[in-house]
Amino acid sequence: MYRLYGIDNALDAAGMDAVDLLRAFFLLAAASSLSVSIPSSLRSRFLIYGPRATSTGSGSRPPAGNTSGLLDYLATWQVPHVYFTHFYIASVLSSAFWGFQLFFRGAVFQAVASRVSEEHRLQSMSLTQVMICWLLLAMQGSRRLWESFAFAKPSTSKMWFMHWLLGLGFYLAAGVAIWIEGSGTILTRSVTIDHIKITNAPTMRTFFCVPLFLIASGMQHDCHHFLFSLKKYTLPDHPIFRGIVCPHYGAECVIYLSLAVLAAPPGQVVNKTMLSCLAFVAVNLGLTAQTTKQWYMQKFDKEAVQNRWLMIPYVY
Ligand SMILES: NC(=O)c1ccc[n+]([C@@H]2O[C@H](COP(=O)([O-])OP(=O)(O)OC[C@H]3O[C@@H](n4cnc5c(N)ncnc54)[C@H](OP(=O)(O)O)[C@@H]3O)[C@@H](O)[C@H]2O)c1
Repeated sequence: MYRLYGIDNALDAAGMDAVDLLRAFFLLAAASSLSVSIPSSLRSRFLIYGPRATSTGSGSRPPAGNTSGLLDYLATWQVPHVYFTHFYIASVLSSAFWGFQLFFRGAVFQAVASRVSEEHRLQSMSLTQVMICWLLLAMQGSRRLWESFAFAKPSTSKMWFMHWLLGLGFYLAAGVAIWIEGSGTILTRSVTIDHIKITNAPTMRTFFCVPLFLIASGMQHDCHHFLFSLKKYTLPDHPIFRGIVCPHYGAECVIYLSLAVLAAPPGQVVNKTMLSCLAFVAVNLGLTAQTTKQWYMQKFDKEAVQNRWLMIPYVY
């Protein structure tokens, strides 16, 4: 293997392999979002994005001083909320790129796989698991890309540029996370027609997780369509929004949960790399659901919103 000195020296010094690096990326990114959410001076400037940033309540800022002058300046580095489309372009391109690399065991795949430790390679997902998980992630990216064009509406809402950069990093990392724990199998076995025969009996995991993924995707699609149908910012009154503030965020968590369980290597309940990916999703969406709830309570009807769950039932 070619040695990439910067990366390999850092991995050696930390005693990590490529799998650990990906997990660390997701967990550190989740931890940074959590830390930014704690001081209100950072939360209001850098975390709140989209329609919620129009609030005067949770989004209100402390009085100006020297430090807040600098923070205010940094907070002006914003991009439009519709740049979310870039995430799905990155996701679809990454799925296509890795699909090609995995099928032909390309040079970039070899470079990543050679940096996966023997311990991780020995407990590897099956080829069928890798193919199903890759396909589902590609479907998720493609649906979201299509929705971001089909459900586009005029908007002036914005997000902080770091949010956009972190989102791009997340989708590129997820494209690798979905197969990296299967690299041991991909290195040693080729895809044959037997792996894609529809008559193959599904495993229990496939039997439960694929329908779960599809139901959550359908539910999320309905939520996005409903939000798109609203002519102005309103308290959503669709039945599914009446109990849950952000059901589309809950659906996203279920989508990543189903992938994490489906991609579990042999003898494990869950794929820990995809679980770290889910931790990132849940933390970021959980924080945004909280600010959405505050925004709805201030702008619309406090009574109607305060008992609604955040993203999933029983989580307030
Ligand atoms: N995987 C991840 O880490 C991750 C991270 C973030 C989001 N996502 C997913 O991406 C999807 C979109 O997320 P998002 O944060 O952009 O959702 P969002 O803030 O709820 O906005 C979605 C769309 O609905 C509009 N909208 C939101 N609330 C509205 C209201 N009360 N009345 C009228 N219109 C409203 C927004 O308008 P504006 O365009 O004017 O803002 C935007 O067009 C979600 O399903 C989420 O799960 C995933």
